[in-house]
Amino acid sequence: MTKTLDSINPFDPEVLACPYDFNHALRELNSVYLCPNTGVYFVSNYDLVVEVAKNEKRFSNKFSMIQSGVNTTPDPEMIAILKKGWPRVDTMLTADPPQQRRYRSLCQKPFSISSVAKIRPYIHDVANELIDQFISAGKCDWMESFAVPMPVRMIAYILGVPLSDMELFKQWSDANVASFSVGQTREEALRSAELVVDFQHYFADKIEARKIKPTGDVLSDIVNSSADGETPMDMAECLSVISQLLVAGNETTTSTFAEGMYLLAKNPEQLNIVQQQPELIPNMVEEMLRLSTPTNQMWRICLEDTQLAGVDIPKGATMMIKYGSANRDDHQFRQAADFDVTRGNLKTQIAFGQGVHHCLGAPLARQELTISFQNILRRITNIRLPEGEPELTFQPSLLLHGPIGLNIEFDQCE
Ligand code: HEM
Repeated sequence: MTKTLDSINPFDPEVLACPYDFNHALRELNSVYLCPNTGVYFVSNYDLVVEVAKNEKRFSNKFSMIQSGVNTTPDPEMIAILKKGWPRVDTMLTADPPQQRRYRSLCQKPFSISSVAKIRPYIHDVANELIDQFISAGKCDWMESFAVPMPVRMIAYILGVPLSDMELFKQWSDANVASFSVGQTREEALRSAELVVDFQHYFADKIEARKIKPTGDVLSDIVNSSADGETPMDMAECLSVISQLLVAGNETTTSTFAEGMYLLAKNPEQLNIVQQQPELIPNMVEEMLRLSTPTNQMWRICLEDTQLAGVDIPKGATMMIKYGSANRDDHQFRQAADFDVTRGNLKTQIAFGQGVHHCLGAPLARQELTISFQNILRRITNIRLPEGEPELTFQPSLLLHGPIGLNIEFDQCE
């Protein structure tokens, strides 16, 4: 049986793009699995993923050194490009408490439920502005028309980036995400590094300006706030935090918009239920998050010799916790692969993670998704895939799981 698992390379682009069979096999056969080819311990069932995510004392998030998943020799050209920018430092996602707590408390005010509630009208307006642009055609490239621009507009608005810089902003977000992608050519990797440096200089100017003269926006809050009397973040720390907000805030929400829309197009009976009962939309969003789980898996480093589900894990071992697999565990979610907008126990879905690293942007993402789908489902119906539209395919990525493209057709509501 284990032979079946041992013959699979978990970092094969095909497995990363379509991990469902592998994850199912892991949950069934070996929910803590030491992959002999990579030396990584994979944790796949719901209870164990939660257990690891909640135990930050034993399982560390200081994984930036292994982010690429493979040992690569330093490329002098890459080093020369990166030298033009600021060093990457470990902040929220790639730090452990107490440092992680410090960064988080410096950033969390603008992302709290009450702060995010203030931008509801803006989300509503942008959603309708985007829908206005494609509704009369009865069809659209959903990624380009909505799934990509909506989260970019939101995070740019929060960080005070003007609309005129939106194109650049998206490119920088993609470049920051590229460090998790698999199969990039050297040229692409160098180009991404150049874009990351451009991004750093763009924000460095804004940060300097706000340190001298705060303008009352979120960026001013982030760069000037100090928790427990500590000094505000330095430039490299600010840039690291902003790049995390950019990556975490854009790519993941785009993926949920895309896969969520696909699920509606493929399940007309569920679309019908939610259009008849719009009060189910928040629940539907949780179900979309559960099935898409765009932050599909995350690294952890084991800090002390440990046993998990009877498996010995030595200090220093690299682990991968599979949020996407946990969210499709039949022991936690009945008929887990089905899309069910009335599902009852969605409070337990873990697309936003668990424990101290629980997603900082969860209130923002939930609100973007809920308000957007409220407006979408009020204005369009009979959502379907155009004839010949292929099944959804996904970008192979070590950590994220996001659809590549999606076209839809629809009718306008009366
Ligand atoms: C559907 C959208 C999103 C999903 C599924 C998602 C998922 C996650 C997950 C699973 C984690 C925990 C990672 C771990 O366990 O190591 C996380 C952390 C984080 N997320 Fe999100 N996220 C989303 C949207 C956002 C948004 C909109 C923002 C901000 C604008 C954001 C900012 C962050 C940050 C800063 C962290 C690190 C927090 C820490 O380590 O203390 N995320 N996210």
